[in-house]
Amino acid sequence: MSRKPLIAGNWKMNGTLESGGALAQAVADGAADAACDLLVCPPAQLLYPIGRALAGTPVQLGAQDCHAEEKGAHTGDIAAPMLSDIGCSHVIVGHSERRENHGETDGTVRAKAEAAHRAGLIAAICLGETEAIRDAGKTNSFIIGQLDGSVPEGSTAANTVIAYEPVWAIGTGRTPTPAEANEVHALIRSHLSDRLGADECAKLRILYGGSMKPGNAAELLAQPDIDGGLIGGAALKAEDFLAIAAAAKG
Ligand code: 13P
Repeated sequence: MSRKPLIAGNWKMNGTLESGGALAQAVADGAADAACDLLVCPPAQLLYPIGRALAGTPVQLGAQDCHAEEKGAHTGDIAAPMLSDIGCSHVIVGHSERRENHGETDGTVRAKAEAAHRAGLIAAICLGETEAIRDAGKTNSFIIGQLDGSVPEGSTAANTVIAYEPVWAIGTGRTPTPAEANEVHALIRSHLSDRLGADECAKLRILYGGSMKPGNAAELLAQPDIDGGLIGGAALKAEDFLAIAAAAKG
């Protein structure tokens, strides 16, 4: 089964109209050469202008979070249908920074992924262990728990991507070895196969995130169960982001 790689940039809380606009334009300018799908996830205030700038290009637009409900008294939040209304195709849910900084549980993440699905968005569901969990040799059971808690019934290869992001690798310059990362990706695929079906999971894209850079992308992306990347810091430089995309062969 060949899965077209997806290289996604999570810009986190970075970018102004000027700097974000220039970054999106530079990504779009390099997109024609990419053999993979490209997605940028700017901060909320840039979604609309960048969506307009990307219209007609192959670069897709994603948000970094959504609320689980469709509307109502939730000051500061954005609902999934609002994101599809302005042209988003994807939304990241359950990033470890939101789990940590906003107290999001697996249940919250699952409800947000369900809201994304209802709104016709692709949910990029993030999970990953802390260093303490890895050191305790409990990575596999922890990941299985997060999958069971965070991935809703009805998830398919068309409405979901999974991002495995070991917390200890995010923004640290450290990564698992490609084989170690692939081991967790293979576990994710086989565990979800039992729930969602083997055919669906053979098509499901599982991204790696955590200090992916031009220098390590090719060896990570060459692993059989690593189907792309969710890039933080290196997504803020178009040159680096496009170099990672160039390492993702279809
Ligand atoms: P870095 O690439 O900066 O480690 O961030 C990864 C990440 O958190 C993407 O969602």
